Amino acid sequence: MAATACVLGIETSCDETGIAIYHTEHGLLAHALHTQAAMHAEYGGVVPELASRDHIRRVVPLARQVLAEAGMAASELDAIAYTQGPGLAGALLVGASFAQGLAISLNKPLIGVHHLEGHLLSPLLCERPPAFPFVALLVSGGHSQLMRVAGLGRYELLGESLDDAAGEAFDKTAKLLGLGYPGGPAVAALAAEGRPDVVRLPRPMLDSGDFDMSFSGLKTAVVTAVAKLPEGDAADARQARADLARAFEDAVADVLVAKSLAAVAHCGAQRLVVAGGVGANRRLRARLGAEAERRGVEVYFPELQFCTDNGAMIALAGALRVSAARSDASGMAVRPRWPLSELAPVA
Ligand code: KG4
Ligand code: ZN
Repeated sequence: MAATACVLGIETSCDETGIAIYHTEHGLLAHALHTQAAMHAEYGGVVPELASRDHIRRVVPLARQVLAEAGMAASELDAIAYTQGPGLAGALLVGASFAQGLAISLNKPLIGVHHLEGHLLSPLLCERPPAFPFVALLVSGGHSQLMRVAGLGRYELLGESLDDAAGEAFDKTAKLLGLGYPGGPAVAALAAEGRPDVVRLPRPMLDSGDFDMSFSGLKTAVVTAVAKLPEGDAADARQARADLARAFEDAVADVLVAKSLAAVAHCGAQRLVVAGGVGANRRLRARLGAEAERRGVEVYFPELQFCTDNGAMIALAGALRVSAARSDASGMAVRPRWPLSELAPVA
């Protein structure tokens, strides 16, 4: 039986300060998030220096808040986990320094978590979590990847975007359409007013026969389509922009749905997990849900609040790793099937 662990997780890789406490038996005990979106909006994107400074302001009050919510003293935690990367160096350093200070003062272990592992495992925060193994579609601002997930730390990359990530394409399309930052929710809101199949955009690499993706050609097609849009703010101009947003959203969803289900079939998997900010897109969720059901595949989405960056996924990943390490240390464990490639690097 796995040992229990209760871990405080700290996420500061980009523009969200997220802190949470996860217990391997009792689940998520508390979580808090401060998003900097409004602060960066006037610059049209994340300003790294402003992000770091804001994390400094938020991290201590948010940590106090989650401890109070969980009704715990810091000394009752088993370990402190923080996002070690990838992300903005200055922003990461804020979370790392705070986590290290806390771990030293409490004399508890410190665990650096890979941000994408946090996203990958975030569907385990669901009330009805998926069992391993599963295929994961990881679609965030910087990454679009399909992974085969055999267990904790056992991840095989099946395919990925060769250029822009899906989230990046949403953000760039938002800019081209004169919408705010972050782009994904803004494009999705405009697309909700758009009509399907009025504008036709390409589905890059749809038939490439592998699990790689490309979204920069789609962005170029949006540039061309934007140049042809009627000017002004009249009803017809707004409708034309909404139709284009809808066409873009449909094109991205088509590619992600087709590639994900092909990967599931290739692996002979029964479960598909969707994670990362673009996983919050309602049209993608609906399309994937319907197509997976048609094929008898179970699909799992994190709650909307755990799709985008958050502390809960970092606390969860940290707690699972502490629990696994304790289970290993507390009893004899053998691994008859143990690929050398699964050894964790030491440095
Ligand atoms: O996972 P995430 O919060 O941060 C990274 O690790 O990158 O993902 C952020 C990305 C952004 O590109 C944002 O525009 C996109 O997720 N996003 C969405 C939606 N909500 C966030 N894209 C499409 N539809 C949404 N509803
Ligand atoms: Zn992320």
